[in-house]
Amino acid sequence: MTRPGLHTLTGGRGLLFGGDYNPEQWPEHVWAEDAELMRAAGVNLVTVGVFSWARIEPEPGARDFAWLDRVLDLMDESGIAVDLATPTASPPPWLGHRRPETLPVDESGHRLWYGSRNQFCPSSPVYREHALALVEDLAARYAGHPALALWHVGNEYGQVCHCDESAEAFRTWLKARYGDLDALNEAWGTTFWSQRYGDWAEVVTPRRAPYIINPSQQLDWRRFCSDALLDHFRAERDLLRRHTPDIPVTTNFMGLFKPVDAWSWAREEDVVSNDHYPDPADPLAPARTALTHDLMRGLAGGGPWLLMEQAASAVNWRPHNPPKPPGRLRLESLQAVARGADGLCYFQWRASRFGAERFHSAMLPHAGPDTRLHAEIRAHGRELRELARVAGRPVPARVAMVFDWPSWWALEERGRPSDRLNAVEQLFSYYLPFWERGVTVDLVPPSADLTGYALVVVPNLFLVSDADAGAMTAYVHGGGVLVVGPFSGIVDPRAHVRTGRFPAPLRAVLGASGEEWQPVEGPVRCRWAGGAEFDAHTWTELVAAEGAETVAAFAGDGRPAVLRHRAGEGVAWYVATMPEPDALGELAERALADAGVDGILPEPRHGVEAVRRGEILFLLNHGTETVRVPLPRPATDLLTGSAADGHVVLAPRAVAALVEPSPQTPPPGDDIEITL
Ligand code: GAL
Ligand code: ZN
Repeated sequence: MTRPGLHTLTGGRGLLFGGDYNPEQWPEHVWAEDAELMRAAGVNLVTVGVFSWARIEPEPGARDFAWLDRVLDLMDESGIAVDLATPTASPPPWLGHRRPETLPVDESGHRLWYGSRNQFCPSSPVYREHALALVEDLAARYAGHPALALWHVGNEYGQVCHCDESAEAFRTWLKARYGDLDALNEAWGTTFWSQRYGDWAEVVTPRRAPYIINPSQQLDWRRFCSDALLDHFRAERDLLRRHTPDIPVTTNFMGLFKPVDAWSWAREEDVVSNDHYPDPADPLAPARTALTHDLMRGLAGGGPWLLMEQAASAVNWRPHNPPKPPGRLRLESLQAVARGADGLCYFQWRASRFGAERFHSAMLPHAGPDTRLHAEIRAHGRELRELARVAGRPVPARVAMVFDWPSWWALEERGRPSDRLNAVEQLFSYYLPFWERGVTVDLVPPSADLTGYALVVVPNLFLVSDADAGAMTAYVHGGGVLVVGPFSGIVDPRAHVRTGRFPAPLRAVLGASGEEWQPVEGPVRCRWAGGAEFDAHTWTELVAAEGAETVAAFAGDGRPAVLRHRAGEGVAWYVATMPEPDALGELAERALADAGVDGILPEPRHGVEAVRRGEILFLLNHGTETVRVPLPRPATDLLTGSAADGHVVLAPRAVAALVEPSPQTPPPGDDIEITL
């Protein structure tokens, strides 16, 4: 059976617009005002009930759904769809008080208490029993309710627990993975430091220890933690699906968030959704945001996804929280639309008066509707209706970038050549030049089918399986262009070093191999074969060409720094250092030339993001200056209705959504030339 997806919400509604709605924080007379203001703002989706466990179940086994009935009825009367949350992210104090074993324990053995949120042990049977009993009743109660459009399971999964029950669950997981203790000892390399396990009971979570913990144990622990949470997610999801097979199920991700292997999670959801809060102090935030959005699109298999949470203005959880200047809310939201989002939601609808987030912005601020912020929200809601036609439209990309959670986990263990190698920063440094050049990139897992892409970039893949390395090799032989960054292909899935010259499983396709990692302090001068120089930093490798040409060399001793190898029908690049951004730009251009891929704009402009979605070309000015952007073809701006012939002028934070005339096929025998 095909599962319902985001289209079941957007069909008839167009783009989704709304936010988290927490009516339990307000007296009921406020709800009516909420509904009226939501309608006026064009809100068509709200997430309800995320933190309502204690309100629904004030004491063990009690059920108070009457208030929630009234909320859902009100939303239905107002024509607003409900993304109903299972409130299991924050159990009430009575659960932790009566059953302390449901509370999580940190790696030092300290129990974490209630009084905040997220205080549950993913492997606690008692937590699960209480959570599922509530979810069952919630699902039964609201199955068939006309407002119910989407299920939101829990909130931002990422909990970790080191209690005895978690250790037991970890052992069960390990038994399923390895079968017996001998295999576990082998996989974890326990002959090292006398770590051999003679009895399963000895195997525990990587609790606080005197010195560096076994990296293979740590890697399996991270796999287990992600799987344990996923197992809980699935248990809730299955209950929901049983009661409401036609209602899609999601849970909100947090982008490149380390604890949860999003590739394995996304397969289990009907809708991919994300919470994203760009750092206003980071000048590169627009590009980082684009990367995160591209990851969501990748997780959604190239289809639409939902921006579940963003801030209308300031957050409250960074140390210093400036508001978003006028226009940024719109710019950031339209950036998500451009990169495949079909829904733009906020945390939250109405600003809280009390609690830990009383200084977090909202769509409706404390000062009320008659404010510049709320006026921007209304205008944005209106404008999104003009863009309804983009819902469901694809974002085409010919370039893929590989990212993998287990490799990330394995790379960042203690005890390596340099702890300055960071998987996400490495990914971002390779992503940035493509973003700047208006080249759309899909994020994919290492196991993805690469054959549809002209260029595949692997910024870092420290851990690689034989199968994935084999598929990358075959991809190049079949005509693909592959770029591989440093310290890739180093360990196998157990985090054991692959012996021989590195990167052992990619050596043949790269036509190069190395023998030593040489992290460096300060910049290292490098020289392109043509003579131009650039700096690299942090990392160098002692590599020899084995058929590859040396495209750039370390200036000091002439050893290869960047190599290019023709293999079969394709080309493979290897980068044995960390080039500065301009040099990565040069590298991106050369690889794009090999792949025959062009950027969207004839002349990219600094700070202007360009991306196509469906028949619309989005241009977003993230910079601080007005720019004139030459266009590939004349077009009409969907947002202003004005025609753009040859170029558009974009003020800071301005956005253009350009529709180009569709190329017409001349009737057969007719030799009219169409010039666009
Ligand atoms: C998210 C969370 C929301 C709210 C928001 C504040 O992490 O899901 O409940 O806390 O952050 O930015
Ligand atoms: Zn636990």
